[in-house]
Formats: sequence, C-alpha cells, structure tokens
Amino acid sequence: MREPRLIRLHQHDAASLGDEAKAGLLQVPARVSPKFFYDALGSCLFDAITELDEYYPTRTEAAILAHHGAAIAAAARSRLGSGATLVDLGAGDGAKAARLFPLLQPARYLAVDISAAFLGAALQALQLRHPALEIIGVGLDFSARLALPEGLLDGPALVFYPGSSIGNFAPAEALRLLREARALASGGALLIGVDLLKPVAVLEAAYDDALGVTAAFNLNLLRHLNRLLGADFALRQWRHRAFFNVQRACIEMHLHAREALTVSWPGGRRDFAAGEAVHTEDSFKWARADFEALLREAGFARVHSWTDERDWFAVMLAEA
Ligand code: AVJ
Repeated sequence: MREPRLIRLHQHDAASLGDEAKAGLLQVPARVSPKFFYDALGSCLFDAITELDEYYPTRTEAAILAHHGAAIAAAARSRLGSGATLVDLGAGDGAKAARLFPLLQPARYLAVDISAAFLGAALQALQLRHPALEIIGVGLDFSARLALPEGLLDGPALVFYPGSSIGNFAPAEALRLLREARALASGGALLIGVDLLKPVAVLEAAYDDALGVTAAFNLNLLRHLNRLLGADFALRQWRHRAFFNVQRACIEMHLHAREALTVSWPGGRRDFAAGEAVHTEDSFKWARADFEALLREAGFARVHSWTDERDWFAVMLAEA
C-alpha cells in the first residue's frame, strides 16, 4: 500500500504564530490575519458557512466546475497532457481537488496547506481511494511567499487555487502570489476561482448571514487567540461587523468592542475604546476583465474564463 509523503516547510509552532498575532493586536488599528480563523472549530464553522443560503461562492464555483468540467479539463489537458502534477493551494481535506481527478487524471497530487497535521490524516484517507496516485503533502504558509523545494516539481503542473481564497489578498499582494504561482506552473496552467463584483446587498448578506454563522466564525478568532496566546478576550464583549468597502472593492470584516475594555496576555495587554475594532479579514471582489488583466500582468498568457448565469463567480484557466 502506497503512503502519502509529508513535507513540513514551515514550522508552525504556537510561539511564532502567537508572536505574529500579538504584534497585530498591538497595531493601531488592531489587525489579525484571517489565517487565525481556522482552528478546528473555525474550519467547521467555515464548512457551515458554505451551506448558508446567503453564501453563494462555494456552491456557485462547484456548479461552474460541474457544468463546464469537461471543457475545463479538455483545455487543461491540451496544455499539460495527462500524467501531470496537480498542485492544490490551501488543500484542506482535498475534497475539491479529488472531484477533478477523474477529469484531469493527474499522475501526482501535491497538496499544500498551512496545517501539515491536518493534511496528513486527510491525505491518508485520499490515498485509500486513489491507490495509483502519487500523493505528496506540503505543510506551508504560502501567504507570505509561495515556493516549493527545488526538484519537487519535475514536469509541468496544474496549480489549483479554488474558493476565491485569492480574495484575501489586496491587488498588489495578489499580483505577487500570482507571479509565484506562474513560476510554479511554468509550462502548465493555473486554475483559479475568483469572486466577482455584484450588488452590495448580496455581498453583505453573504458575510453577515441571518443565522449568525459568519458572526460566530469571526468571533471564534478571539477564542482561538485565547488558547494560542493565553489571552482573555470575553467574546460577549465583541460584535461582528461586515460591510462592502466600495473604494477598495472588498468586504471588510471587523470585531468591535461593545464597551471600553482591556485584553491581557502573558507579557502584554491592549486597551480598546468602546466601538474600537480588530480588523480580521478583507475579501476582495473583482471585475472579470480586471482579474484577467491581473493574470496577464503576472505573466500568464492565454486566459479562459467560465462563469455562472448571473456572472457572480468565475473559474479561470491561465496558461503559465
Ligand atoms: C475562504 C477567503 C474564500 O472570503 O469568502 C467566508 C472566507 N470569510 N466568510 C471568503 C470567509 C467569511 C472566504 N475565503
């Protein structure tokens, strides 16, 4: 029986992650990276978000891939042939990529995720269902820089970056990440999910749902920081807020202090005035033509796009 290979590129010890979070809490305004949403409960809450009526991205992307899968696979395979490597950025449990296996028939599946521990278990389960596939897991936080060890990719690759996770990056950072993805995919292609501009009411409901799941997802970040830093955030003192910033073309998520308060952790503290916020996420939305132009600026050649009937989401295949 084949075993997935696991490579840990970034040591995610609690101490260095904690230092990063503390530095963000001390900034004015306070700011914590959205990667701190995803502890075990946070990942469950995100899965719950994808089931919400208001949260359209996941099911819209899945519908595009289901409806245009054959055309997308044909375009990818004309570029890569069969037997290529599928590189999955932010793989999670690998379920999204696994749905592409029958279409793309990769020889190798290289799953990249910030949590190597989580990857290990998920990839073992995946290997049982795909015994012939070579599976490699790479534990890497590519938010600062995306690069794989020399020699790990020997042929052309299809880099898969679904879910509109690229939306967490402001345009200049997105351009940097896309350049790095192009270098990885060189001779192959990038398959990426991009959330498009749409009426503000639709966007704001997707990030402030009636059930309050997104509010719980946002607040859970404080619970995660309590455990990570030994901080004493009292969750009832904080309120979820999400709104579309028209100038920046992004949804901003914040947590606002309901009253003046102090948060303490071993070795530090931060006072918050009533109403003061911690900025927890940006989720940028794109005009389709602007993102296609960004891909070209990043060095990609031909770009094919597929969208849903409302033009709410795009799946783009860009030749690297
Ligand atoms: C995982 C970054 C694509 O921005 O829509 C969902 C995260 N935040 N609801 C997004 C998220 C609040 C999500 N991404």
